[in-house]
Amino acid sequence: MKTYRCAVIGNPIAHSQSPALHEQFAREAGISLIYDKILSPLEDFETIVRDFFAKSPDTRPIHCGLNITLPFKVRAYQLAEQHTDHAQHAGAVNTFYLNAKHQLVGDNTDGIGLCRALMQHGYSLKNKRVLLLGAGGAARGALYPLLQAGVRELSLSNRTLSKAQQLIKPYQSQFPITLLTPEDFSTSAPFDFIINATSAGLHDETFTLPTPLIHRQTYCYDMIYGKPTAFLHWAAQHHLPHHDGYSMLVAQARESFARWFGSSSF
Ligand code: ATR
Repeated sequence: MKTYRCAVIGNPIAHSQSPALHEQFAREAGISLIYDKILSPLEDFETIVRDFFAKSPDTRPIHCGLNITLPFKVRAYQLAEQHTDHAQHAGAVNTFYLNAKHQLVGDNTDGIGLCRALMQHGYSLKNKRVLLLGAGGAARGALYPLLQAGVRELSLSNRTLSKAQQLIKPYQSQFPITLLTPEDFSTSAPFDFIINATSAGLHDETFTLPTPLIHRQTYCYDMIYGKPTAFLHWAAQHHLPHHDGYSMLVAQARESFARWFGSSSF
């Protein structure tokens, strides 16, 4: 039986749950997998990635895939020799593998992971009004997969409006995407989904949105996991259904695994 070697690379990396997730997927798929954590010094990221894949495929185990986490996702995008559609739209890479020509392919499974997670919680995005909060890397990764999921309208809101404006620009001619400013809050129709892609509320800030933006079943999802956030606290106070980002973490990992081993349980 062939043994494969994959890893997650980041800084810091000790907290990463990726090894446990991928080892579980490998067991389920009957694949022999060694999955490491690589702590990369900031200056060595590119060298470590090149070395990792340079060993493949002549040595055993076969070095077949890398996950990339903070703070290297944008540098990973720059390092990739070929980008998938999702990586291109996100401007960031969380999954590497080699193509048949031995080129380094950069992919991004974060946004698909988000959509899969929502589905697994029993929510369809089709024809729904979605409010996405944030305009940083997390929001950028989510935008295209959310639009592709067939939402009726996607509104983007961010503390710094110019960043949100910039983010939606390339999509405005093709997709129902709008900017939601604080002035719009009182006149906007309620949303079916509110997805938090900001880091707000992690540091004792409070979080609030005006009630015209919600209805009784507005589903709230925070991309952050493992910490109680002010956003989820606000959702609970308003008796809205909500989840943290753990399911997205699992789903993006499963999608990466499927890129490497061609199997997906979805
Ligand atoms: P990430 O890659 O995780 O998205 P990021 O690029 O630093 O991280 O983006 C963080 C996001 O959280 C941004 O949308 C940021 O808003 P600004 O663009 O205005 O900076 C948002 N954010 C962070 N702290 C916030 C706060 N206290 N209130 C509102 N938004 C906040």
